[in-house]
Amino acid sequence: MASGPFGALVVFRRGLELGIIGIALRLPLSLPRVRERYGMDGLTKEILTALKRRTGIDFERYRRASVEHGIALRMAALQCASRVAYLTQLGYAPDECDELVRALSINVTSFFRNPIVFEILGEKILPGILERKRQSGNQEFRAWCAGCATGEEPYSLAMVLREVIERCGADFTTHIFATDINQDALLRAEAGVYAEEQLGTVRFALLKRFLPRKGRRHMVGPEIRSMVSFSHDDLTSSLLTAPTESVFGDFDVVLCRNVLIYLQRSLQIEVCERIARSLRAGGYLVLGEAEKLPSELRGGFRAVDHWSPVYQKKA
Ligand SMILES: C[S@@+](CC[C@H](N)C(=O)[O-])C[C@H]1O[C@@H](n2cnc3c(N)ncnc32)[C@H](O)[C@@H]1O
Repeated sequence: MASGPFGALVVFRRGLELGIIGIALRLPLSLPRVRERYGMDGLTKEILTALKRRTGIDFERYRRASVEHGIALRMAALQCASRVAYLTQLGYAPDECDELVRALSINVTSFFRNPIVFEILGEKILPGILERKRQSGNQEFRAWCAGCATGEEPYSLAMVLREVIERCGADFTTHIFATDINQDALLRAEAGVYAEEQLGTVRFALLKRFLPRKGRRHMVGPEIRSMVSFSHDDLTSSLLTAPTESVFGDFDVVLCRNVLIYLQRSLQIEVCERIARSLRAGGYLVLGEAEKLPSELRGGFRAVDHWSPVYQKKA
């Protein structure tokens, strides 16, 4: 058997894995107790329960593969050899909960992601909404961008909307409520500063007008910035229909793209039910390219386009 400091380390690690050290230090759960309660997979569950206790965010009904991946990333970053060791870290280092939320919420995004959807919005959906509003004397447009990551999506929507408003020649008050659970992503979204290589999908005319260069980067100009407000909202929370910032929802358009793919089906249904309640009659829901409205909700919507996941709530 190894001796010296290395040997002590091996013994300590084995002790952690067996739960003996957990018991000695009165840690919240030892490995044997966790095994007894949930089986081996229960360690993942235990980590997510600890996370929920600290942050209020429940990742238990996210897809297992992305949860396992996020936990593995954090374990590698902290050089944790076992899940029990990681669970211990999570219990004792408050910042680790925020780190785990960051690792579990995948922020991949881009300007005009899946451009055809923005064409449908700009050519068909937004002009139709604004025309109906103009006719009824309602001058307010409201949208929710749920799971907005670092802001590229709501700013893309704002640019398209600005162009449509100018084309239709009427005056509208616009509110785009952009929400996410990842505080870092929200801070970056609020700053609205992007590197050149992040702007490849933005038309030159839009770039020049709305995203002026600032040194080696580009910054969202005031015209677009003022149309979007960012706030924290957990889509899976059933307490509120609409994000608090928006007060009452009643949205003309909700973009919830590339978020549902990370959720288990039962949670996808709950999230879509929440969004459906927040939409006004005749309002539109836009999902990600690889996402579909769960069949349970299709009775309340009609598909707008055969090829794109855009749905209109029935009146
Ligand atoms: C892959 S990104 C998609 C960003 C953007 N919608 C797009 O399609 O480019 C998924 C985003 O959803 C956010 N997210 C995950 N779970 C969430 C939840 N329960 N509530 C709100 N946002 C969530 C993540 O933090 C991440 O920023």
